[in-house]
Amino acid sequence: MPLAVDQIHQGDARELLDRIADDSIALSVWSPPYFVGKSYEKDLRYEDWRQLLREVIAGHARLLRPAGFMAVNIADILCFPDPAIPRLQAEKSGGRRLPVTRADIERVLGENPGFTRYDVARHLGVSEQTVDRRMKHNNIRGGKYAAQTRVQLTGPLLEQPAYEAGLYLYDRRVWVKDPAWENSRWHTNSYRAVDEFEYIYIFWKPGITRIDRERLTRDEWVQWGSRGVWQIPSVRSNRDHEAKFPLELPRRLIRLLSQPGDTVLDPFVGSGTTAVAAIQEGRRYIGLELQPPYVQLARRACQEARGRQP
Ligand SMILES: C[S@@+](CC[C@H](N)C(=O)[O-])C[C@H]1O[C@@H](n2cnc3c(N)ncnc32)[C@H](O)[C@@H]1O
Repeated sequence: MPLAVDQIHQGDARELLDRIADDSIALSVWSPPYFVGKSYEKDLRYEDWRQLLREVIAGHARLLRPAGFMAVNIADILCFPDPAIPRLQAEKSGGRRLPVTRADIERVLGENPGFTRYDVARHLGVSEQTVDRRMKHNNIRGGKYAAQTRVQLTGPLLEQPAYEAGLYLYDRRVWVKDPAWENSRWHTNSYRAVDEFEYIYIFWKPGITRIDRERLTRDEWVQWGSRGVWQIPSVRSNRDHEAKFPLELPRRLIRLLSQPGDTVLDPFVGSGTTAVAAIQEGRRYIGLELQPPYVQLARRACQEARGRQP
């Protein structure tokens, strides 16, 4: 049975993609797990993660319509322990590394049961975000200062499997999120654990691309349509989902790369942001999501968005 359009489907993207009709998707917009230790990716090994990307990208070759696009939002850097690299890479001198560990935070909380994470942060002289990350294990795997931590760019990890699947790099944009976060602001001359920008890589399935200059207003072309750098504040509240992208991001991609009535896919739909943007822009959508609570969240978001339609 092919997957119904205008629905969020629960399951593994690698399996569900096989059930999407050939040549039916005009645009796919997604942000994969980043392999940075979020709760929904804690059981993934690096090789599994790469394989997930490979399979999802390969799946697109069949279901994108000719001249369709796949736009992937991803941060640049991966950080993971690699015993094969020299230890020297991790040496530091002068140490401005935060000495605060999860155990320190637990001790302060034990001594001061009523403390919020803001109180703990003040008490330990660190930012509230540091406390939050330590507690949620929501941190770059290994940490870039751990001995033998390897950093790797993500662009090639998308480009190579896309090329092998017959999808070609068409464009890329830089999404500038926020000024450096409080706890990334110390002096650093290497990769930041939390960076100020991410990428959007756009791949193209061969076909005749219709470039419709009327798709955006003149102002939109000037402000962002023709620009390589997009300034969009990130979503700071992560109470319901850990890694949402802002609505404006899929909205721009949808307006730029599809027509009203087209179907937009998000195989990692999370809280449903891409589907909501599709509804608002008069497109159809298919959303896939592994985690049942996020499926519910996305379905509710779509229902609300449809309710707000004129
Ligand atoms: C970076 S988040 C995407 C967030 C989304 N863009 C939003 O704005 O809410 C990645 C999502 O992929 C989901 N996920 C991870 N592995 C998956 C898989 N194999 N199939 C489908 N979804 C998966 C996670 O549960 C998570 O919600």
